[in-house]
Amino acid sequence: GGLPNADGVVQLDASCMDGKTYNAGAVAGLENIKTPASVARLVMERTDHVMLVGRGALEFARSFGFEEENLLTERARQAWLRWRERLSDSDDWGPPDHLRGGDGDSGRLLEGPEEFHYGTTNVLAVDGNGDISGITTTSGLSWKIPGRIGDSPIIGAGLYVDNSVGAAGATGRGEDVIKSCASYFIVMRMREGRTPQQACEDAIDMIVDRYRAIGNDFVPGEKFVAINKAGDYGCARMPSGGNASITVRHGGGLETYEGSSRG
Ligand code: GLY
Repeated sequence: GGLPNADGVVQLDASCMDGKTYNAGAVAGLENIKTPASVARLVMERTDHVMLVGRGALEFARSFGFEEENLLTERARQAWLRWRERLSDSDDWGPPDHLRGGDGDSGRLLEGPEEFHYGTTNVLAVDGNGDISGITTTSGLSWKIPGRIGDSPIIGAGLYVDNSVGAAGATGRGEDVIKSCASYFIVMRMREGRTPQQACEDAIDMIVDRYRAIGNDFVPGEKFVAINKAGDYGCARMPSGGNASITVRHGGGLETYEGSSRG
């Protein structure tokens, strides 16, 4: 159900990292394979590489028996068609110029709701031995320029795990997460003694401060999540989009944790 790129093609990114073995794998720009995190795991476990992209990632997945399928759902295709028509009033998509804006149906742009712009999932885990692992998986920024890679498959940006400290992951605007090496930053803050919640907030503040340092009030839209070796967790997000919340699974079952919104 992820949204496609500007050409209407779903391109997926994913990464995984295993703290116990200090090992990582990732795929980027992967088309036609529904489970990119599983492919990233095979890159981690069955090769001496960390990241495969595009055609190479697809051939790699096929070699392990993954089946290709069309990932563009009808709902996502309809959203892409609406985006294409609304993108500009000076291109040729949409009603002909002489009918545009008229009262008749044939003069109207396609109608429908605005859709979300990211579709990323982080999963971070610590087991009973204190071993830590994580994945981040996404269809990325909707309507992205074909070939654009986000933060999710980049170890240190969309995901980082240090078995002696904890793990962190990111969702939201990947460009900022890449520039700030945010997941690595969060784990290093925890190494310095910050709680997962504090470390996530530190990453938000760091990014906002960097824009302010160049005289710009731009506040991007990211959310960070972190756990430490003891099983403590936290999350924080930029103010756009409401409060931060994550789902926590532990011995007692499932619960929702509300983090903080700052920036
Ligand atoms: N965080 C997902 C992306 O920017 O692609």
